[in-house]
Amino acid sequence: MLLSLSALASVLLGTASAFEYYTFDGPGSPSCHNVVEVHNATSVDEMVDLVKDASSRGLQVRAGGRGHMWYDTQCSDDKTVIIRTEFVNGISDFDLDGGSVVVEGGVTFFQLAEYLHERGANIGTGLVNWNITLGGSIAMGAHRTSLREDAVVVGGVLALDIIDGNGDIRHIERDESNDDWLAASTSLGLLGIIARIKMQIFPETKVYAMQTTLEENDVLNGDIYKLISPYLTANFWWWPSQHKFHWRTYDIVPTNTSSQQGFQSTFSVTALEAGAAVVLLNSGKISSIPNLAAEAIFFGLWEKPNFHDKVTDEAITEWPVYGWNYDVLIGGLYPGQKPEWEYGLKGYTLELAFPVTRANEVLKRIRALFDAEAAKWMPMAATYRSGINIKFGKAHFDLLGQVTTGTADKQDWSKGAIMFDFPSFRPSLGDQKRYNEAFYINLANTLVDEFPCRPHWTKNTRDVFKRSVKNLDPSYLARFKAVRQKFDPKGIYRSVVGEIIGMYD
Ligand SMILES: Cc1cc2nc3c(=O)[nH]c(=O)nc-3n(C[C@H](O)[C@H](O)[C@H](O)COP(=O)(O)OP(=O)(O)OC[C@H]3O[C@@H](n4cnc5c(N)ncnc54)[C@H](O)[C@@H]3O)c2cc1C
Ligand SMILES: *[C@@H]1O[C@H](CO)[C@@H](O)[C@H](O)[C@H]1NC(C)=O
Ligand SMILES: *[C@@H]1O[C@H](CO)[C@@H](O)[C@H](O)[C@H]1NC(C)=O
Ligand SMILES: *[C@@H]1O[C@H](CO)[C@@H](O)[C@H](O)[C@H]1NC(C)=O
Repeated sequence: MLLSLSALASVLLGTASAFEYYTFDGPGSPSCHNVVEVHNATSVDEMVDLVKDASSRGLQVRAGGRGHMWYDTQCSDDKTVIIRTEFVNGISDFDLDGGSVVVEGGVTFFQLAEYLHERGANIGTGLVNWNITLGGSIAMGAHRTSLREDAVVVGGVLALDIIDGNGDIRHIERDESNDDWLAASTSLGLLGIIARIKMQIFPETKVYAMQTTLEENDVLNGDIYKLISPYLTANFWWWPSQHKFHWRTYDIVPTNTSSQQGFQSTFSVTALEAGAAVVLLNSGKISSIPNLAAEAIFFGLWEKPNFHDKVTDEAITEWPVYGWNYDVLIGGLYPGQKPEWEYGLKGYTLELAFPVTRANEVLKRIRALFDAEAAKWMPMAATYRSGINIKFGKAHFDLLGQVTTGTADKQDWSKGAIMFDFPSFRPSLGDQKRYNEAFYINLANTLVDEFPCRPHWTKNTRDVFKRSVKNLDPSYLARFKAVRQKFDPKGIYRSVVGEIIGMYD
């Protein structure tokens, strides 16, 4: 309402009164600081017209998906027009025998999953959280967690249509020998708006989900590659003050293995649970004790399957859980519940990727930093419902991807990457800083300085991006920049991320 009124006012008055645009966390969590118009486009043609119009008025343009990003890094700080893709969500050209489907940029994972399931198909492993657009996730290099199969969403992309800076649609086919493709594969939205995507599809399958609790030492000193790589998808959740990991694995099973229809939810909470968590975690702004208590509670809850029966909505209490591909790998919201952030459980995060060959070293370094904090009587705890998410990504070659290979750092990225994804509770009180705020900053700086590591493109602050540039391959950046200049000579799709990595110098 506020957005549309301001947008209307600026149109009527011919002035550009700028306002903030928010992430999924809402007011107080800006993704852009200087937005002058927000348009709900309803077709690809309309997006083309909006781009041409904004460009002719000297304004910046950024696409807007579902706002599932964490910091103020969507736009540049100059006057920007947001073109929302929510209503540009057609699905066409379904061809299970040929193995592909075409979606418009605003299609979300749950829309596509439902469409495909009804037709006996799925998109394999290239999926992230349910309420995220394919365009937004492909632009930003989003990924699931797998060392065996493609983890990046773009791993399942066969072709892209991008609206470039002149408002022309460019069709780019997957082709690793073409720099246009290697740039479009993780484009950060700097080449233009991803308007259409041709995705690979597969016959529908059932999968199981299994979870085991591991002692921390068994992971820190264990063969991490061997714990993860055999599975369709697998990850750890780390509970640092419990000194434990949850080890989650998934794989395909014959359809007749079980008639169970498990449905996962990572983010559903009831109003009662959320209210209690907000009070506890807010009191953790000034003391470790509530944070340690919260981690113990969250750990206990996370021991049990975060799955309901899709038909009856009853909680499933035993591992393994079985169900259809998307329902088990992602799922969504339980009926009558809301995602935690809609109850004021807001977050900060940090996500960095390291070569999986160095996984033990990285986790041990983080453990040493946790221990140093405890020695200061300020013990660390995971203040997020699902702990610290340790994910993995199979190598995928492109210019700006988190899991690319062959970089100048001479590290072996070919076996894939381990991602340290560290969400934490954002207090709603005072300055909204965390109890161990200095620790979080020091942790990020230490990892970026001591290891070859690459930032997730929507889960880090401007400061982390600035510090991370030294770890990126200068020749890959130069090749990306050349494609950027070709697609968007005037730089209308600029973002602070693009500025920080030198795409406009
Ligand atoms: C609860 C939650 C869970 C998540 N889980 C994962 C996960 O498992 N793995 C992972 O990698 N990431 C994850 N993410 C991050 C998420 O995948 C990315 O931030 C993604 O870019 C969000 O897409 P969106 O559609 O919400 O786009 P927005 O948040 O609206 O936009 C994100 C960026 O993409 C640009 N953009 C959006 N649409 C387009 C388009 N069509 N063309 C060009 N540029 C575009 C925007 O300008 C902006 O810079 C998660 C985020 C949340 C909040
Ligand atoms: C665009 O759509 C969103 C979501 O449906 C709605 O909340 C918003 O008011 C609309 N904005 C405009 C400018 O029409
Ligand atoms: C999906 O995200 C949009 C935009 O943030 C939000 O308005 C909508 O309520 C979300 N839907 C669900 C099911 O969470
Ligand atoms: C599932 O189907 C296969 C092939 O038809 C059969 O061999 C197997 O015994 C069945 N398994 C169960 C558990 O029914």
